Amino acid sequence: MLETLTNKEHDEARQGEAYAPFVNEINPYKKHFYIESYGCAMNFADSEVVASILNNNGFGATKTAETADLIFINTCSIRDKAEQTVRKRLTEFRKLKKNNPGLLVGVLGCMAERLKAQFLEEEKLVDMVIGPDAYRTLPGLIEEAETGQKAVNVLLSRDETYADIAPIRLNSNGVTAFVSIMRGCNNMCSFCVVPFTRGRERSRDAESIINECKELFEQGYREVTLLGQNVDSYQWIPSHNPSSQSSTFPPPPGEIEGAVSFAMLMEKVALISPLLRVRFSTSHPKDITDDVLFTIAKYKNICNYIHLPVQSGSSRVLQLMNRTYSREWYIAKVNRIKEIIPDCGLSTDMITGFCTETEEDHQESLSLMRYCQYDLAYMYFYSERPGTLAARRFKDDIPEEVKKRRLQEMIDLHRIQSLHSMQRDVGKTFKVLIEGSSKKDENELQGRTDHNKVVIFPKGNLKKGDYVTVKIDRCTAGTLFGTPIKTA
Ligand code: SAM
Ligand code: SF4
Ligand code: F3S
Repeated sequence: MLETLTNKEHDEARQGEAYAPFVNEINPYKKHFYIESYGCAMNFADSEVVASILNNNGFGATKTAETADLIFINTCSIRDKAEQTVRKRLTEFRKLKKNNPGLLVGVLGCMAERLKAQFLEEEKLVDMVIGPDAYRTLPGLIEEAETGQKAVNVLLSRDETYADIAPIRLNSNGVTAFVSIMRGCNNMCSFCVVPFTRGRERSRDAESIINECKELFEQGYREVTLLGQNVDSYQWIPSHNPSSQSSTFPPPPGEIEGAVSFAMLMEKVALISPLLRVRFSTSHPKDITDDVLFTIAKYKNICNYIHLPVQSGSSRVLQLMNRTYSREWYIAKVNRIKEIIPDCGLSTDMITGFCTETEEDHQESLSLMRYCQYDLAYMYFYSERPGTLAARRFKDDIPEEVKKRRLQEMIDLHRIQSLHSMQRDVGKTFKVLIEGSSKKDENELQGRTDHNKVVIFPKGNLKKGDYVTVKIDRCTAGTLFGTPIKTA
């Protein structure tokens, strides 16, 4: 995940300036682009694909909006607040346009898909609107916009996975990288806009994923996070037309020669090198299989950590959310995880104040959190999204102050639980992958445990990309502090 602390808006307002090491003094580029990304890790991974497409077409990255000829903002629609953040940022870009009339502004990603050409009406100074499956057409759209026309392509695709595009790593620490393994989502959680903004689920060619991971390892990267909205339904069938892939058809992998399931894919990535850590996100509780759990247990370099969003602890609310499991079913799944991987870290996503949620439902969410003892939780209050099943079927009837009060209660509970989870680690030793200097002190390094917990420790002769065994001396609710014992 992108964050380590509780209740950060991990899939919104994650600002990242485009910075690629290929900008050089000679400046061979016809124009320079700047990308800012918001939303989930998949959006950040997409910005790296966009950077690659632009770079291959003669555009160079720049670090600041002020020095750019083209500004792209890769947007998120998951909650209203995420969209407001983008609109605010667009008003700032508007000011830049006054001083630089040739500047072109393009909106990418989920908000582009949701609002389509309507965006051009609402935000007059936007020149290009490009949906998540249309990035290959960017060079042509830029040319169109350069003639003074507005350029739009929001066509969703049934088979686009950008499998052949080598992403250019933006803002990279050179140690950890995201690798998209699929796009879209076939689930229809009633609160969620993603199926509408990202389209049908499709899996990426397994070989291209393995090759990307191998190249990353050869470049010195030591951790890959395999990304998808529902990674457990990954399924690659060679020479099968990807447009007809879905979670239920064709038949389960294993029955078709050469078919690759998520468990098989993870295994192939894990086998690249024992020094390459493998993470994945996100798992839908209904799809995570014993095969996946046994594969995690089998390989030391597949992290013992599962992000398993539950959304609510009330079976009644879960049904309205169309999550397709009950509270009891989810608990059984958590028990199964602990049975197969006894030392498994667990995190979740929670929504408070969904349509009709009562105080009893809310208490059930809290009690489920107490039962599961999540190491990490991302918590939100419900934000109605136009066009979703919930918006069409149910009234958004919980007053905002109630939604927020329930959210605060949940955050308070989780803060105590996450502190306990950190305290349980004090005195223990962990293998930590070093990601770089600590943000607060150059003489300290920062890394992560298998369980995705941030550890800070003195630098000594250690460097990023190394594994080190660290003994934990103390903690806060978000960070472990320790002493390196030996290089692992
Ligand atoms: N695919 C993942 C899953 O099924 O859990 C996560 C998808 S979404 C990008 C991340 C989280 O945002 C969700 O798990 C949910 O908790 C939250 N979310 C989605 N729609 C929301 C809404 N309308 N209001 C509040 N939170 C929402
Ligand atoms: Fe949204 Fe549900 Fe798909 Fe996750 S699984 S992206 S919450 S529809
Ligand atoms: Fe947001 Fe789109 Fe991701 S809505 S959370 S950027 S898939």
